Amino acid sequence: LFIDPGFPVNKHQANVIGAPYEHFDVYDYRGDKLKAKLESYLCHGDIASILYSNPNNPAWFCFTDQELQVIGELATKYDCVVMEDLAYFGMDFRKNYSVPGQAPFIPSVANYTDNYILLISSSKSFSLAGQRIGMTGISNRLFQSKGDNLEPWFGSDKFGYAYIFGAMYALTSGVSHSNQWGLAGLLKVVNNGSYNFVDHVKEYGDRAKVMKKLFTDNGFNIVYDMDDNQKIADGFYFTISYPGFSGVELVEELLYYGISAISLITTGSERHEGLRACVSLTGQERFPDLETRLKAFYKDHH
Ligand SMILES: Cc1ncc(COP(=O)(O)O)c(C=O)c1O
Repeated sequence: LFIDPGFPVNKHQANVIGAPYEHFDVYDYRGDKLKAKLESYLCHGDIASILYSNPNNPAWFCFTDQELQVIGELATKYDCVVMEDLAYFGMDFRKNYSVPGQAPFIPSVANYTDNYILLISSSKSFSLAGQRIGMTGISNRLFQSKGDNLEPWFGSDKFGYAYIFGAMYALTSGVSHSNQWGLAGLLKVVNNGSYNFVDHVKEYGDRAKVMKKLFTDNGFNIVYDMDDNQKIADGFYFTISYPGFSGVELVEELLYYGISAISLITTGSERHEGLRACVSLTGQERFPDLETRLKAFYKDHH
């Protein structure tokens, strides 16, 4: 069960292994409404796993602790595994999550269930994109658990062994030794306090703040704009729409002004008017260009 909008590759992955899936757009089901919506899927007893990213790609919303609690408690009740994709680990810049071992801690469903697998990419938080290294954190309870249908597929009925030696080993070709040392080195300096990994990626939030304003000053709306009742954070992505355009039309029209984005349709969103903008390749030196282009767009369309 994908809590959408989400990273489109995850659905390709389900498709290539032949795993059927359900999904829903969480836009109308934040806060108190989440429980009933999730339960409407889980009550059928055929959902093995729930997957979402937090902070979210493409919309940059972050689930509140109350929402994570709901997800965790339902995962325990219905015995399914939450795959929590923390690709943007610590990157909700509204709070300072950079000091290891000290509150505030990065929010996680792991506080509310033992049925979790945390997926921590090194590409964004640790700026190791392209190196193809990440981490998974599995609760001891889940790791030690047994499943009577695991052995025929993965050669072991123990979940942890099936995960590592059955699934991971078959699906990846592993990670180079030098790269493992690189990530270990990063983790060491983060944990001894000599490297503040959040400081090095905060730039994305600063960019988003300015870029969002450039868009909204020129007639655009932010589509996913709230975390329950709190304003959304500034981060790696944001979502936009323009009155009178579908998302697909807007992608094309913006290209004529030298601006690229992706339609939210590919992400499982029901907000078909929306696009995802990514700040990663737009340095501050490009802001004057962006402003000129958006002003031209506005002039031609309002
Ligand atoms: C939510 C999410 N998960 C996973 C990834 C992929 O991370 P990696 O570079 O480790 O494959 C991304 C990258 O875009 C992402 O946005």
